[in-house]
Amino acid sequence: VERALVGGPLAGKRVLVTSGPTHEPIDPVRYIANRSSGAQGTAIAKALRALGAEVVFVTGPADAAPPEDVEVKRVETAQEMLAAVEAALPVDAAVFAAAVADWRVASASDSKMKKQPGEKGGLPVLEFAENPDILARVSQMNEGRPALVIGFAAETDDVIDNATAKRKRKGCDWILANDVSHATGIMGGAHNAVTLIDSEGAQSWPRMTKAEVASRLAERIAQTLG
Ligand code: CTP
Ligand code: CA
Repeated sequence: VERALVGGPLAGKRVLVTSGPTHEPIDPVRYIANRSSGAQGTAIAKALRALGAEVVFVTGPADAAPPEDVEVKRVETAQEMLAAVEAALPVDAAVFAAAVADWRVASASDSKMKKQPGEKGGLPVLEFAENPDILARVSQMNEGRPALVIGFAAETDDVIDNATAKRKRKGCDWILANDVSHATGIMGGAHNAVTLIDSEGAQSWPRMTKAEVASRLAERIAQTLG
């Protein structure tokens, strides 16, 4: 397998991919999380590897099995994901496909929280803290920034406008925007319909499988890295 891949357009390039959700513990048996199957991130890692890249795959707890022949770093929380990403640098390109939880529980309990039977006051109140924005941190690095930083923007309303603003705010080079409203069937499905936004503007790709989105993205990365 290794030998067949040598000489692809991404041979000699190291690329980082984040994928899957993060889980933020409430107590030892409960967590909050974002919805993510990890399918798109996994497909991207596979496509990059198929073009010869050395791939570091940082994944939260996802359903999809990680691709073969890539370096897999398994994490649980956003803070762990940030640490794994920083440890993987430097890279030539980084693709942030993970659905990172924006908030964690400020002080997760070491003991299992028990139901409090009774009429009043039995409901827990959770306090949240903001998680680090991994994509923004890497995009805004002064030294050792990857030549190409790519984010995703899963939106349900004003998809292009929100994603365009998000690209500017975070400082990444490209954003792949997708409409994840229930009706689109994208969450958990095999297909995706993305719009690639770069400094030049927005380019909508036709609806295709997540594997096809991944191949097209990997080809574009290869062209850009030269
Ligand atoms: N992302 C990240 N770290 C975070 C949050 C998001 O690396 N803590 C990355 C995601 O992997 C994705 C991009 O940032 O590539 C956009 O994520 P998204 O949730 O759409 O953006 P947010 O800035 O969190 O905005 P929103 O309020 O819409 O959730
Ligand atoms: Ca978010």
